[in-house]
Amino acid sequence: MIYITGDIHREQDIHKINPREFEAGNHLTPDDYVIICGDFGCIWDGGSGDRFWLNWLESLPWNTLFVDGNHENFDVLKTYPVVDYKGG
Ligand SMILES: [Fe+2]
Repeated sequence: MIYITGDIHREQDIHKINPREFEAGNHLTPDDYVIICGDFGCIWDGGSGDRFWLNWLESLPWNTLFVDGNHENFDVLKTYPVVDYKGG
C-alpha cells in the first residue's frame, strides 16, 4: 500500500502520520510506504531535533519517503549522501 501526504513540517504537522491520528497506519507493514510530497522538515537543524524525528519515523512499521519542498533546510539536506534505494 502507498499513502501520499505532504507538509509535515516536522513537529508542526507530523501528527498527520502519527498512528494515533493516521488510523490506517496501525495496519501498515514494512512492505508499505508513506510518501511525503514536500515540506518534510525533519532534516532541518542537523542536530538532535533531526535525530529525534528520524528515529521516530524509523520506529514506525512502514517505510517513510519524502520529496523535498520549498520549506526544507537545503544546506543541511545537501550534507546527506546520495544512495541507491531499492534499485533507484
Ligand atoms: Fe508547506
